[in-house]
Amino acid sequence: MTTEKFEIYSPDNAEEIAKVADVLKRGGIAAIPTETVYGLAANALDEEAVKKVFKAKGRPQDNPLIVHISDTNMLDRLVKSLPNGAKECAERFWPGPFTMILPRGEVIPASVSAGLDTVAIRMPSNPVAAAIIAACELPLAAPSANLSGSPSPTTAKRVIEDLDGRVDAVVISHDCEVGVESTVITLCTNPPRLLRPGAVTLDKLREIFPDIEVDKAVLSEPEKDKPVASPGMKYKHYAPKTELYLVEGEAEAYIDYVNRQDDGAALCFEGEDKKLRVPSVVYGNENNDSEQAQALFEALRQLDELGARKAYAHAPQKQGVGLAVYNRIIRAAGFRVIKL
Ligand code: TXA
Ligand code: MG
Repeated sequence: MTTEKFEIYSPDNAEEIAKVADVLKRGGIAAIPTETVYGLAANALDEEAVKKVFKAKGRPQDNPLIVHISDTNMLDRLVKSLPNGAKECAERFWPGPFTMILPRGEVIPASVSAGLDTVAIRMPSNPVAAAIIAACELPLAAPSANLSGSPSPTTAKRVIEDLDGRVDAVVISHDCEVGVESTVITLCTNPPRLLRPGAVTLDKLREIFPDIEVDKAVLSEPEKDKPVASPGMKYKHYAPKTELYLVEGEAEAYIDYVNRQDDGAALCFEGEDKKLRVPSVVYGNENNDSEQAQALFEALRQLDELGARKAYAHAPQKQGVGLAVYNRIIRAAGFRVIKL
């Protein structure tokens, strides 16, 4: 299949936006930018279109998709009910990098939710994404626009590397500013539970839900054969080809440890690269969690391009957006942690 490319850097580019909307309305699939990562979108109400998304990514059928809306008016028909706190979350965190799991309305095909009786909903703040959804007048199901198992793409270039020839269209736009996928919470449990950390932090969520729980899968390896609250959490995910180790410790200890290894590469913070004797990729400043989040997935891809057999990542702090960075990186490392 030939993949059509549309360059859209502004929501005012109505002509190109209408063309992408047309692809989607006709049941095609298109990669679009969002503020978190690029997404691979399809009409969420069209079972056949949704199937194409799973196929293009090589995504397991039991991993449900997030449905994207551009207006809270779209919400009511997609859900069976709105649990306590849902309206407040929508007002506070939408549009933005925030997803709520809600009771699934009948219009949502079972395949979108992988057969669960819940549905994940998000309203992205990226203006091009919002304009495309609004032009379609449809909710769009969209997982991250990577091949299953590789890091989520934060640039159009990486989307094209993974999906050219596998999807109907790719929107070429700005790099994603958040860099890690949205925060996912479920409102279908009491108390609500954080399933995936993101740029809407636990502290912000506690202002609405003081008793919110953090799912075990956020920081630890899922137990074999046990059901998980968020199916996406059980996959290794974001797996670089390089065998990655997550190294916890102060900068000096980390540098010392890596320099004592016979081979390998490093995924480190700004400034540490100059003191390392191995090839390295930097993922932001040690004290800036937003910068780390923005840089992480691109850094993982660059790390693979170095071709090293092993690599040592300097672990981030788990506070604020750092929790999301830690969550992604420990998965990329297959839960191999070295404590110094
Ligand atoms: O920022 C994002 O959320 C990006 C952009 C494109 O919007 N999308 C994204 O989608 O990260 P994806 O498919 O890569 O991740 C969706 C996550 C998975 O971990 C999935 O298991 C979980 O959300 N999820 C979706 N529906 C769910 C449901 N009904 N119950 C529990 N978890 C659900
Ligand atoms: Mg994904």
